[in-house]
Amino acid sequence: RFQRRNRPCRYDIDCFTPSFLSIFESLVPSEEEIAKQKQLLTSLSRLINEEWPNSKLYLYGSCANSFGFSNSDIDLCLSIDDTEISKVDIILKLADILQAGNLQNIQPLTRARVPIVKLMDPETGLSCDICVNNLLAVVNTKLLRDYAQIDRRLRQLAFIVKHWAKSRRVNETYQGTLSSYAYVIMCIHLLQQRRILPCLQEMEATYYATVDDSNCAYFDQVDKLNNYGAHNRDTVSRLLWAFFHYWAYEHDYTRDVISIRTGRIMSKEQKDWTRRVGNDRHLICIEDPFEISHDLGRVVDKFSIKILREEFERAANILQFDSNPITALFEPY
Ligand code: GTP
Ligand code: MG
Repeated sequence: RFQRRNRPCRYDIDCFTPSFLSIFESLVPSEEEIAKQKQLLTSLSRLINEEWPNSKLYLYGSCANSFGFSNSDIDLCLSIDDTEISKVDIILKLADILQAGNLQNIQPLTRARVPIVKLMDPETGLSCDICVNNLLAVVNTKLLRDYAQIDRRLRQLAFIVKHWAKSRRVNETYQGTLSSYAYVIMCIHLLQQRRILPCLQEMEATYYATVDDSNCAYFDQVDKLNNYGAHNRDTVSRLLWAFFHYWAYEHDYTRDVISIRTGRIMSKEQKDWTRRVGNDRHLICIEDPFEISHDLGRVVDKFSIKILREEFERAANILQFDSNPITALFEPY
């Protein structure tokens, strides 16, 4: 294991970059699709504002954080500060409003961990989920989008990692593997370690939001940082190799917590994540950048950690040795 830790990347890794970039390009949504999403946001906002003039509808998740694939569902969050009415009642009333507005396949899911309404818009053909007052998700969406603007390699890397995770079926939180959100945070962490990305939450804040009890502040004038990682010339293939090599052989699963909030690796001791509490098993520790008591690896259990680590090793070995790594890497599980 020690030898593998220090293994250098194969000398010809960069010759796969054009293929990885064309996979990336094939996953990016078209301008037309993005325009349709905006159109849906506008028409739904208009409809909902007639009933709740003080509410506001936000896009969040992959369609707004710039890590979304084409043809993915849209995540929307309705912000409303009416304290008279419960979240569940808001969801039910929202379903009625949408029904009256001729939207289709409307399903209020009031018992879910995060209550939502699902719907399909016949005009654009898009499906979406609307949740209520989940503003932390709106703020972390902005943080991810801001990071993506600093260096284009983040988006390239994260798309390929997400594509790998979906192909290998390790992007299924209900099966104990990681969310897309967690994978993007892992990519940001790697690029921070390589000084390709800064740590925005450690810089002087230019953006502030207080959501629930979390103080969300960071430097968001990212257009001033677009040369930040230029000293590092690593290609996306090399970064992909480094990503899998890190999670296969370098990460200390017994001790480490990755933290993009601090730009460092923290210890489980420091976070008091050494004991199992409720569902938090802390077998792979990924700190949420704003909800800092929240481990994005909480969904991982003693079975799925094995699957996940085997997949990291498989990917690392393919990128190290395989003569046709692209086919092998995304081979459907
Ligand atoms: P795909 O749908 O797989 O393309 O990706 P996605 O970016 O929509 O990811 P996901 O469905 O994992 O999450 C949607 C959004 O919910 C994320 O962008 C976050 O804003 C938020 N989110 C997801 N998981 C968590 C979590 O564990 N904690 C918090 N605070 N927010 C989360
Ligand atoms: Mg999503």
